[in-house]
Amino acid sequence: MATSMVKKDLNWADLGFKYRQTEARFSAIYKNGAWSTGALLDSPMISVHEGAPTLHYAQQCFEGMKAQTSPDGRVLLFRPDLNSERMNQTAARLLMPEVPYELFLRGVEETVRANYSWVPPYGSGASLYIRPMLIGVGENLGLRPANEYEFRVFVSPVGPYYKSAGLAVISLAVSDYDRAAPNGTGAYKAGANYAGGLLATKKAQELGANEALYLDAAKRTYIDEAGSANIIVAMKGNRFVTPKSNAILPSVTRRSIMTLAEQHLNMQVEDRPIDLRKEIGDFEEMAACGTAAVLAPVGKVWLDGAWHHFHDNGQSVGPVMQKVYDLLVGIQRGESPDENHWTHVVKID
Ligand SMILES: Cc1ncc(COP(=O)(O)O)c(C=O)c1O
Repeated sequence: MATSMVKKDLNWADLGFKYRQTEARFSAIYKNGAWSTGALLDSPMISVHEGAPTLHYAQQCFEGMKAQTSPDGRVLLFRPDLNSERMNQTAARLLMPEVPYELFLRGVEETVRANYSWVPPYGSGASLYIRPMLIGVGENLGLRPANEYEFRVFVSPVGPYYKSAGLAVISLAVSDYDRAAPNGTGAYKAGANYAGGLLATKKAQELGANEALYLDAAKRTYIDEAGSANIIVAMKGNRFVTPKSNAILPSVTRRSIMTLAEQHLNMQVEDRPIDLRKEIGDFEEMAACGTAAVLAPVGKVWLDGAWHHFHDNGQSVGPVMQKVYDLLVGIQRGESPDENHWTHVVKID
């Protein structure tokens, strides 16, 4: 498949976060204990057996990454090794075969390269969202792992996850539903975790919030995470804190932010359980973070029948989150020095 170097004629500043079909996607098949080499395909459709375990028992997982264009025109991935590692951790938890890093990265790079014309240009504020996925396919009926698997990667150019451009201040509503049991699958990017969250998100949106905020399922005391993002908090006493829990997704964005906070913020950085009711009075700034959301300051939280407001009553972005955002996106977009060697260049020709 020849790479077109001519960019698509899109309104890059107004893409929203939705699926747009591009020319190419990558697919490799696991059969008889081995992966095929994999190839690029034209069709966005997947044909699977009606008994496929991915359809009945949710034996599947996925990842979310982004490619962005740097000021000098390079196409950058952000820490693809961590997405591969997390996919393999999920695969092991769901009795699926690991996708070797070489295959994972080749699938991602080939898909990005073949869809170069869809990679938003530098300065557009948009990026190319990358969705690697692993599904259990083939004929089956009883509750057991699949015999065959497909590893697929597709991409779609996207704008900001939350409606307004740039750093949108959002709101979260503490959910009455639990996301994940303490020793369940919360720390893995399994699709099954997300189906159960659809109703929680709907209820949160009915309250006027953007997303649900989950507390720990055992005690309903400590912050777990939001529907599709981890949480970070700037607290009184010059502290920068993130909730520690074995039921949350180990967010690549949050781990990177915590490293940057250690390196660049003159604050005490803590990774520990956060008792929401006891500590909310100490919150100065709160934010949700993830690949799709990047960093979204949380202006208010709905808890026990009332809204709790943070920095500037939720009217503007606080100084700590603004700084953390600038540090992170500066590296992801190739604007600032990448001292931690996190970005990976996709060679286009
Ligand atoms: C439940 C959940 N938590 C956190 C995140 C953020 O993780 P990452 O920063 O690796 O994208 C995501 C999505 O990406 C998610 O779906």
